[in-house]
Amino acid sequence: MSIITKAVFPVAGLGTRFLPATKANPKEMLPVVDKPLIQYAVDEAVRAGIKELIFVTSSSKRAIEDHFDKNYELERELERKGKDDLLKLLRDVVPPDVTCIYIRQAEALGLGHAILCARSVVGNDPFAVLLADDLIDGERGGCLAQMVEQFQRLQASILGVEQVPIEDTSSYGIVELAGYDGRLARVQGIVEKPKAEDAPSDMAVVGRYILSPEIFSILAEVQPGKGGEIQLTDGIAKLMEKRAVYSYEFDGRRYDCGSKIGYLQATVDYALKHSELGEEFEAFLKGKLCRLQGDDQDT
Ligand code: G1P
Repeated sequence: MSIITKAVFPVAGLGTRFLPATKANPKEMLPVVDKPLIQYAVDEAVRAGIKELIFVTSSSKRAIEDHFDKNYELERELERKGKDDLLKLLRDVVPPDVTCIYIRQAEALGLGHAILCARSVVGNDPFAVLLADDLIDGERGGCLAQMVEQFQRLQASILGVEQVPIEDTSSYGIVELAGYDGRLARVQGIVEKPKAEDAPSDMAVVGRYILSPEIFSILAEVQPGKGGEIQLTDGIAKLMEKRAVYSYEFDGRRYDCGSKIGYLQATVDYALKHSELGEEFEAFLKGKLCRLQGDDQDT
C-alpha cells in the first residue's frame, strides 16, 4: 500500500496573462486577499498529508523560495514588538515537519517536462501535482485530500476533473470517461486542448493530479505536442495503455486564477469569507450593487 507524501508544484511558467504585474513577480505570488496563490496550493497539499513540497522553478521565481523560507529579521522584529499573532502567521507558512525542495527547470519546455525535472526527488513513489493557478475551495479537507482518500482505495493514478462549457475545451486537457461510480470514473482517453468540435467530452482536467511514478519513464520519451511543448496530458495518455487511470469530480469550487476574471472572482469570494474583512466588504459590495442597479434603472 502506497501513501502520498510528495507533491510537485510546477512554478516555472511565465504568467504572460498578468503582465505587467508578473514582469518581476512570479504569478504564483499574486495574492488572493492576503495570501499568495502558491500558499493556498501548499496549504491544500499539507491538509492532504503531504510532507515533501517539490517546487519546479526557474530563475525569475526566487520570491517563491523566499516566501517559504524563514525570515529571521522580520521574525525578530515582530518578537521585539510582541506581535505574536503575526509571528504565528509567519511560522505557519510551512509546518515544521514539512520540507521544501527546489529544482530548476532551465528551459520552458512544457508541463510534462517540468514534472520530469522532479524525477530524481520523487523516485519510485506515487505523487501529487498541484497547479497553483487553479485555486480550489474544496470541501472535506480540500480537493487533494478528497483525491488522496480515493487513492488509498484504488492505488492508481487519479486526475481531478470538472465539467466546463463546451466552448472552453481548448483551454484544458479533456477526458473521455466510462464506468462512472459517483464522482469517480475510468479514463478511456485524454487529449490536450481540443477544439469544441473535436472534444471527446466537456470534462476538463483541473490542476490536481495523483500520478504513478511510471509517468517519468514515459515523459522521458514523449515528443513535443500541443504548442510544441512536452505535455503531461500526452504522458498520461501513454500511461493509460499500461495502467488504469481514474478521474475524480471533486467537491468544491475552482477558480481559474490564471485568468483575470477567475482571479477577480476568487478575490471577491475569499474576501467575503475573510474573518476580519468579510462583513465590511459585504457592506461595500451591497452598496455598490445598489448604486449599479440604480444606474441601470436610470438608463
Ligand atoms: C495545464 C494542462 C491542462 C490542464 C490545465 C488545468 O494547462 O496542460 O491539461 O487542463 O493545466 O489548469 P495550462 O493551464 O497550464 O495551459
